[in-house]
Amino acid sequence: MVGACGRMGTMLVKRIMSTEGITVAAAFDLVRVGEDIGDVAGIGKIGVPVSDAKDLEKVLKEAKVDVYIDFTIAKATVVNAPIAARCGVNLIIGTTGLTAEDKTMITSEVVKNNVAAVISSNYSIGVATFMKLCKQAAGLLGNDYDVEIIEAHHNQKKDAPSGTAMTVAEIISKEMGGKEFVYGREGVCPRGKEIGIHAVRGGDIVGDHTVMFIGNSERIEVRHQAHSREIFVGGAVLAAQWVCKQKKGVVYEMADVLA
Ligand SMILES: NC(=O)c1ccc[n+]([C@@H]2O[C@H](COP(=O)([O-])OP(=O)(O)OC[C@H]3O[C@@H](n4cnc5c(N)ncnc54)[C@H](O)[C@@H]3O)[C@@H](O)[C@H]2O)c1
Repeated sequence: MVGACGRMGTMLVKRIMSTEGITVAAAFDLVRVGEDIGDVAGIGKIGVPVSDAKDLEKVLKEAKVDVYIDFTIAKATVVNAPIAARCGVNLIIGTTGLTAEDKTMITSEVVKNNVAAVISSNYSIGVATFMKLCKQAAGLLGNDYDVEIIEAHHNQKKDAPSGTAMTVAEIISKEMGGKEFVYGREGVCPRGKEIGIHAVRGGDIVGDHTVMFIGNSERIEVRHQAHSREIFVGGAVLAAQWVCKQKKGVVYEMADVLA
């Protein structure tokens, strides 16, 4: 578990330790190094100290690890995920804010090192359904409808717009034959055929996504609201168990895990 002391990391540690057949073999972060990760996660000692992320390669080689789970920040993931792939470990990447180039680089490491990976900006099963509904609506409504995406998250979130908003924008754009993205609007900015993307940040909002398909005289809104981070935790653990049994050299999406 990388980013083990973070919001997602601690929840994942708790869930993994209470799931039969899997365990936390190693934990990495930049903070609370040397402390038992069970203590950090509030479940009492499990005998696994938090290792400094700079020791990733050494610790991965010593510990028997099947899956590397990464919920950190993009600039850490681009360094650490290739190291894990080179150690022959399958990857679950939950960190958002990765660029297309970052994903291409990680994919090439997955292929080169013959491991399997899931990269998803959202491990919620409800969000996977939301994506399918948006894809279907885009296909049915076509280019006569304007599309606006509004997402809202807590005030500690570092990247904007959310990875989920970008993924759904890409799905809709593909379905509608290719669209430009416009992020927020200010000043004179007449609407074209773009997809508008807007980010709200405040308080403790776990994650809301609304896609508006706006026509003349009517609109459809497809909305997903996360009430708790548990939805990501369950999906990520499911993906971690699933990825070990898949064909190697392939990067999968959450939709593949649920298919
Ligand atoms: N894919 C999903 O379903 C999903 C769901 C929720 C959050 N996220 C994403 O997961 C990431 C983490 O979210 P969070 O809310 O847990 O954040 P957080 O800030 O609570 O935790 C991130 C942790 O990563 C650690 N970290 C930073 N750099 C590191 C490095 N180089 N090596 C090791 N650890 C490092 C930090 O110290 C921190 O403990 C974000 O990118 C967020 O957007 C994804």
